[in-house]
Amino acid sequence: MTNPLKGQYHSHSLTKNFLPYAFYALLPIALFRMYFHPFSFPQSTPDQLPHNNSYILTSSSSSKEEEIANETRCDYTNGKWVHDKMGPLYNGTTCGTIKDSQNCISHGRPDLGYLYWRWQPSQCKLPRFDPNTFFHLLSNKHIAFVGDSMARNQLESLLCILATASNPNLVYRDGEDNKFRRWHFTSHNITVSVFWSPFLVRGVEKSKTGPDQNELYVDTVDERWGADVDHIDTIVLSIGHWFLHPAVYYEGGSVLGCHYCPGLNHTEIGFYDAMRKAIKTALKTIIERKGANGYGIDVFLTTFSPSHFEGEWDKAGACPKTKPYKEEEKILEGMDADMRAIEVEEMEAAKVNAKQFDGLKLEILDVTKLSLMRPDGHPGPYMYPFPFANGVHERVQNDCVHWCLPGPIDTWNQILLEVIRRWNIQSTREESKEHPMLARF
Ligand SMILES: *[C@@H]1O[C@H](CO)[C@@H](O)[C@H](O)[C@H]1NC(C)=O
Ligand SMILES: *[C@@H]1O[C@H](CO)[C@@H](O)[C@H](O)[C@H]1NC(C)=O
Ligand SMILES: *[C@@H]1O[C@H](CO)[C@@H](O)[C@H](O)[C@H]1NC(C)=O
Ligand SMILES: *[C@@H]1O[C@H](CO)[C@@H](O)[C@H](O)[C@H]1NC(C)=O
Ligand SMILES: *[C@@H]1O[C@H](CO)[C@@H](O)[C@H](O)[C@H]1NC(C)=O
Repeated sequence: MTNPLKGQYHSHSLTKNFLPYAFYALLPIALFRMYFHPFSFPQSTPDQLPHNNSYILTSSSSSKEEEIANETRCDYTNGKWVHDKMGPLYNGTTCGTIKDSQNCISHGRPDLGYLYWRWQPSQCKLPRFDPNTFFHLLSNKHIAFVGDSMARNQLESLLCILATASNPNLVYRDGEDNKFRRWHFTSHNITVSVFWSPFLVRGVEKSKTGPDQNELYVDTVDERWGADVDHIDTIVLSIGHWFLHPAVYYEGGSVLGCHYCPGLNHTEIGFYDAMRKAIKTALKTIIERKGANGYGIDVFLTTFSPSHFEGEWDKAGACPKTKPYKEEEKILEGMDADMRAIEVEEMEAAKVNAKQFDGLKLEILDVTKLSLMRPDGHPGPYMYPFPFANGVHERVQNDCVHWCLPGPIDTWNQILLEVIRRWNIQSTREESKEHPMLARF
């Protein structure tokens, strides 16, 4: 294991210089801490992913039912990346809503091969994203992305795809670095929004003027999005990387423990439990609030998105690959697998809890494995424009966490739309079964 920050980690100036930057600058430090605090690194390695997602309906006897089942189910988790001549769904140089540091082509990334792959699930086809299908299914609705910079990354991918068919109007913007934004597609009365909430629960982020560690209240939802849940029809939660940072956890008004808090007299408890509790709190809050008002909601939880730092994170090629991994080349293991497993388990528990109400649909957006296979999809040094314009420097910052737009993250939205589409087919069929007359007209 190479120490990515050897000799610099304690340098105050390095830390100080990095703090103002976005989260990706901090991640390597967090990873570094992880490597040296193995208590937070349980060694379970479930490389066989469960196939039993709820949208895989149980097999049925008659072929008619089987056909219906086939139309409404698919396991998107397992599959492979295959060459695709069609290329990206949008042109990154013409979409106006890409965060600069993820706009790889306009920052001079020279290889474009990473744009010509599509995810092929093992049991079904994943169609190309059709914006008109989205507009049809989501008309008069509000879809919100809630979480960290990965939620934002996915949201910006969606906006770029949709903008090829209809222009979004930015109707609201608040917070430093555009952390809270809302767009409206007037043509179909669709609202798309993003809420910054890297823990989903109430938290105070570490800062120069604030605490030295993040502070998380694992049993209290973050009302910056929680208060708006009444007005949301589809919510996509996406968290993970922020939990790797040093933090103190509170529950029931007292300290539960901490993750990497030397100097404080708290028990080290790692971060897995805190993340589990945070997800539990978020899902419970959504179910209670939306279940009680009777309007229903579609809830997605995007699973952990693996990073791909290789060797030294501040050298030119920290994630230098230009092709996806082959199937046998990479298995899901370690922290990536553990983070995903917590998310899958909490979503399954929430589904059981949601059964007491009508109209609540919950699904995991299981992107961990397919993302793990794409070491080629990150900005790397192209998080900055033309990083090698004046030759190759000794040190460059790399982003091997977020995804270039366009890029592999577009696939997450393809799956999101497919699940919504299949839910719609399913509920239309159920309605026509209950009201056979309606089916005829
Ligand atoms: C998942 O499905 C497989 C068959 O596809 C079955 O053998 C297994 O028992 C199921 N596991 C759970 C937890 O339902
Ligand atoms: C349903 O899907 C299974 C597996 O992909 C396939 O073997 C079967 O023929 C399909 N059935 C129908 C009716 O399409
Ligand atoms: C994207 O659009 C620009 C401007 O219209 C064009 O010059 C460029 O070739 C396009 N790139 C791709 C990959 O289609
Ligand atoms: C537009 O959608 C919102 C929900 O997002 C709904 O409350 C409102 O009534 C819709 N407006 C029209 C004119 O249908
Ligand atoms: C640390 O906590 C333990 C147990 O709560 C307590 O006994 C001890 O006095 C504390 N030490 C300091 C330095 O506060």
